[in-house]
Amino acid sequence: MKPIQTILCIGAGYVGGPTMVVMADRCPEYRFLVTDINADRLRAWQSGNPPIYEPGLQEILARVLNRNLFFTPDADTAIEEADLIFVSVNTPTKTFGQGAGMAADLQYWEKTARQIKARARTPKIVVEKSTVPVRTAEAMERILNTGGGPRIEVLSNPEFLAEGTAIRDLLEPDRVLIGGPETPNGREAMEALATIYAHWVPRERILTMDVWSSELAKLAANAFLAQRISSINALTGLCEATGADITRVAQAVGLDRRIGPRFLEAGVGFGGSCFQKDVLNLVYLCEAQGFPEAAHYWRQVVVMNLEQRRRFVRQIVSRLFNTLVDKRIALFGFAFKPDTGDTRESPAIAICRQLVEERAQVVVTDPQALPNAQRDLADLGTAVLFEPDPYRAAEGAHAIALVTAWSEYRRLDYRRIFERMVQPAFLFDGRNALDHRRLFEIGFNVCPTGKAALLHS
Ligand code: NAD
Ligand code: UDX
Repeated sequence: MKPIQTILCIGAGYVGGPTMVVMADRCPEYRFLVTDINADRLRAWQSGNPPIYEPGLQEILARVLNRNLFFTPDADTAIEEADLIFVSVNTPTKTFGQGAGMAADLQYWEKTARQIKARARTPKIVVEKSTVPVRTAEAMERILNTGGGPRIEVLSNPEFLAEGTAIRDLLEPDRVLIGGPETPNGREAMEALATIYAHWVPRERILTMDVWSSELAKLAANAFLAQRISSINALTGLCEATGADITRVAQAVGLDRRIGPRFLEAGVGFGGSCFQKDVLNLVYLCEAQGFPEAAHYWRQVVVMNLEQRRRFVRQIVSRLFNTLVDKRIALFGFAFKPDTGDTRESPAIAICRQLVEERAQVVVTDPQALPNAQRDLADLGTAVLFEPDPYRAAEGAHAIALVTAWSEYRRLDYRRIFERMVQPAFLFDGRNALDHRRLFEIGFNVCPTGKAALLHS
């Protein structure tokens, strides 16, 4: 195999973009190309203003752009030139046909594989960066190596970054996972990929294994994380009913070293483009392979998550005297988590829609996600307003519903906000992000998640 000189990434999204920026920074002797079918996205990257918001990204991009990182719409030439190709296209939940609503939609993946097959003139390594169902690499291998042409090795290298902390996650990953075939060529390809990561990741954190385990490990990791969130959320109703406090319960549980403290924050549930999609993908695989109880078990993680949003809205309706008609509700946060503008599967979308069904007037505010929010809710017309300034959003509101724990919201002057709200003023803290006692002392009726409400009589 020829030494790796040029590395291509197909898919310039939340994963492909930041991953290539960090790799280019850490590996100056390689040339990195990135392509995408979305020309606007490419133009934004190439201009130095990334199309996604991610803390720390722009600074590193400025160091590597046009040095050894280039964004190009010419995928065919880039494929010809590349020795190693990361495929980082989207693999959303299928919305049609067999497995609709559960299975992964692999159309983008397969189109990419066929394009690589059509253009490859020299041997290459193709790396699955996208999250895919277990045994996808087998299909890729057949598409890429049937009917002659240069030999192409297919590796699995799932990405574990989380949005908002992508740069840190890429620079200091808990592990880098590489799956490949147990053949001399396979081992050589895995070593070539491991060598790239070894520029900045300690060797002991680079894990190699067979392809199927690597593919499944990614789905399993997301399923475990999502399951922890649903598990803690499944205790919040009970806490509210009995006077227990979910934060204290989580603290006590998390101090057990076998369990650990992270991913035990109760709230309106998980959003984002990965957790629901990947758990449902796992459900589909379990069902398709004849394990209905395992499928049912994992499905409950998503069922619980959706219930948590509905319960939040039910609580708002019930506390606001069982009617929201014409009441102004300020929604604090719309991104699926802080430090990103991404709103894919954000709980805020469903919450907003349910509030509008109750005929509330919703005012959405968010430091980064308003353009996406406007797109997500375009069909709701004037039932939803968008306001960058949280003070103005809360003016004349009957209630604030906090659904994204942006740190900005902790620093607001809540006395000033309270004085301009309709009384009695309510605050529903869907992320338990604020100082509830202080808000109560200001005058708010405070309804946290999984702990007793603080209500003025
Ligand atoms: P994304 O939608 O932000 O980016 C995917 C990009 O691929 C898009 O810009 C799209 O235009 C492009 N694309 C689609 N088909 C193409 C084609 N044929 N040729 C060229 N470009 C094409 O998605 P993402 O969030 O970056 O996720 C990518 C993959 O990584 C998914 O499988 C996802 O599950 C996985 N993943 C995502 C995250 C995350 O935090 N977002 C984390 C880990 C893994
Ligand atoms: C997730 C995985 O963490 C990452 O490893 C994988 O590569 C992609 O999917 P991401 O979705 O970007 O990353 O963010 P994450 O921090 O995992 O948060 C997901 C959702 O869970 C957010 O809506 C967040 O608010 C919620 N969450 C997280 C909780 O409700 N409670 C918690 O304790 C942690």
